[in-house]
Amino acid sequence: MDTYILGIESSCDDTSAAVIKNGILLSNVTAGQAVHMAYGGVVPELASRAHQQNIVPVVSEALRQAGVNKEQLNAVAFTRGPGLMGSLLVGVSFAKGFARSLDIPLIDVNHLQAHVIANFVKEPGEESDQPRFPFLCLLVSGGNSQIIKVNAYNDMEVLGQTIDDAAGEAIDKCSKVMGLGYPGGPIIDKLARQGNPKTFTFAKPHIEGYNFSFSGLKTSFLYSLRDWIKDDPDFVEHHKTDLAASLEHTIVEILMDKLRKVVKDTHIKEVALAGGVSANNGLRNSFHEHAEKYGWKVYIPKFRFTTDNAAMIATTGYFKYQDKDFCSIDLPAYSRVTII
Ligand code: KG4
Repeated sequence: MDTYILGIESSCDDTSAAVIKNGILLSNVTAGQAVHMAYGGVVPELASRAHQQNIVPVVSEALRQAGVNKEQLNAVAFTRGPGLMGSLLVGVSFAKGFARSLDIPLIDVNHLQAHVIANFVKEPGEESDQPRFPFLCLLVSGGNSQIIKVNAYNDMEVLGQTIDDAAGEAIDKCSKVMGLGYPGGPIIDKLARQGNPKTFTFAKPHIEGYNFSFSGLKTSFLYSLRDWIKDDPDFVEHHKTDLAASLEHTIVEILMDKLRKVVKDTHIKEVALAGGVSANNGLRNSFHEHAEKYGWKVYIPKFRFTTDNAAMIATTGYFKYQDKDFCSIDLPAYSRVTII
């Protein structure tokens, strides 16, 4: 018998729904929220209101694109957390009501685990190469920078993480200082492709073990820029591409230095990438260079499955469905939680 899972994601500012059949993605529909651009960051109250408006049309469209009736669904998987509470509650409440009305099981999904599981999203006709357990995963997003040892889809160990800002947060803040738009990641990425990464040098932290730090880099970037602007008020305009390339290069080096260390110590050479920052061209290139130079087998999700999306929630839901790992209707959303 076929198994159809509906996945729902609403942890931050993307309302997303996906349908998978026997582990194969049939649809993945996401409504973003342009409303936050004017504020230079996500405004939680506005995010939850937009989710309220988007959730029904997004789910309907996901079912329509998949060619699936709601009565065919076997379970509803939803992001339980971490995320913004108001945003989460929209998806969680919808999922509960929908599953109850169809009398089918509910599956709660940890958003961070799902980012890792994005490496297992399979599209029709695709012979995708999937990581084999145990593998390492560099999870880099606006809220997290972690190196995870993935023993099984539901057994993950954090080996190292940021002690202050996340990599995406650092990029977004530096982009803001340069007067570029929000979110800064894609803008810096685009500019960096035309710049020279060796033009400027920014401070790299010296942290013991496998942990990262990005707040020093952010401060170094800010102070350097202030000094340069004193001499040339249009410094950013004149050096935009080289600034972006040098910043990106430093962040990629900080991440990859630690990842190399973990690979060396654990002898695990299956290495995956996950989270919003994994859309970054410089980081993707560095992964491929490491594969070639050090014999790593690397896995990088497609662009559309790196930022927040429901395909990764539905895929995690499919794994949990096979284990009959369901949740009860009174399970609350959680805003703060680790990967384990
Ligand atoms: O995983 P994600 O969509 O949201 C959470 O943080 O949960 O990640 C968003 C982060 C933002 O900081 C954004 O600037 C960054 O990912 N990002 C990028 C790129 N696309 C998104 N950073 C660098 N290069 C990109 N192409």
